[in-house]
Amino acid sequence: MADLLEPVILGDTIQLRNRVCMGSMTRNRCIDDNKPTEASIKHYVDRARDGTGLIIAEGTFISPHGAEWPHAPVMYNDEHARAWAKVTSAVHDVGGKIFFQPWHAGRIQNENMPMLKDNGYPVYAPSKIAAKGGKFRTLEGTPGHTHNIVEIDNPKAFVGQYRHSVTLAKEAGFDGIELLSQGHSNSRTDEYGGSVENRCRFPLEVLDAMIEVWGSRSELSETYTYYIEELMRRDLAFINLSRRGCDGKELPPKYDPVLQFGPMIRCPGSRTMLMVNHEYTVEEASALIKAGKVDLVTFARPFIYNPDLISRIKHKVSLAKNDRGGRVNYGPFEDPNENYNDWPSMTRRSQAVSD
Ligand SMILES: Cc1cc2nc3c(=O)[nH]c(=O)nc-3n(C[C@H](O)[C@H](O)[C@H](O)COP(=O)(O)O)c2cc1C
Repeated sequence: MADLLEPVILGDTIQLRNRVCMGSMTRNRCIDDNKPTEASIKHYVDRARDGTGLIIAEGTFISPHGAEWPHAPVMYNDEHARAWAKVTSAVHDVGGKIFFQPWHAGRIQNENMPMLKDNGYPVYAPSKIAAKGGKFRTLEGTPGHTHNIVEIDNPKAFVGQYRHSVTLAKEAGFDGIELLSQGHSNSRTDEYGGSVENRCRFPLEVLDAMIEVWGSRSELSETYTYYIEELMRRDLAFINLSRRGCDGKELPPKYDPVLQFGPMIRCPGSRTMLMVNHEYTVEEASALIKAGKVDLVTFARPFIYNPDLISRIKHKVSLAKNDRGGRVNYGPFEDPNENYNDWPSMTRRSQAVSD
């Protein structure tokens, strides 16, 4: 049984430190033209630094809005993306993950709210159904949600706004998207209203637009899942998984493919051993073997500089590092033994070729 504080991988590549997520919360603090500020950075970073597995940022409007919170954030131009990038990179710096939540305010707006007014936008909503309740504290009198609604005639234009906003969110460095949807205010008679299928059309079109921009799961994941399934069918003795990306296809930060694909190999009934490689330390390797997560660990470069690697492990002596530079790998050399058979062991400073 998994523990609340146990790490987990979301969407195949997003490695969360634990299963505790901070829910999206509008806090009305984006006082710099609806952009996050130093205060927003501190708020999210404090929670990320403490170890929150995933933060879902506050609902962020995809176009100028007239909702009740004058300082709720927006994301529809590069300036907004640059401001959000400061939040995402600060959260990443302390090991956190943060998702973006795009939002259209629909009928919960009032056309007299400054941002909507300044941008000459009406209150667009799926249908002319005024929302109940709500009191716009910053407007004079006691106005609530407007009755002055303009019914959206081309929902695809709004799908486009969502697409644009999540594209900016990607540029701003968010790790993913949460789509917020609710469906109580739809009396449309076109292909976006009526039947269940029609009522779900708009959020699904928005979702498809998001997937176009973000993907749903990674292509890498699909390819390797299929490949490993096929390898496993062949009853091999072992599979050596590298946790290394390659140029131009770097792995996402903190993502460990061994955690994702390892269990496909080390599973009940499997006769195939899981070997892993790339920059393992002795401590990490021991812990993984002890925990039964891998069967074999390879060390490559450490064997260049540590002819006595096993003795060092046995005697708990730290491994030597390369202090001679890159030529030790492939040369050039005058004698083939140079940087090849002349590395000291832990007991002697120099090891003769003839040893
Ligand atoms: C002040 C406040 C603002 C919220 N803003 C959002 C929001 O922007 N987007 C959203 O999906 N949910 C929002 N919610 C709902 C929360 O994410 C959460 O679902 C709700 O508070 C219930 O969870 P809780 O009982 O743990 O607080 C908000 C809740 C609060 C209290």
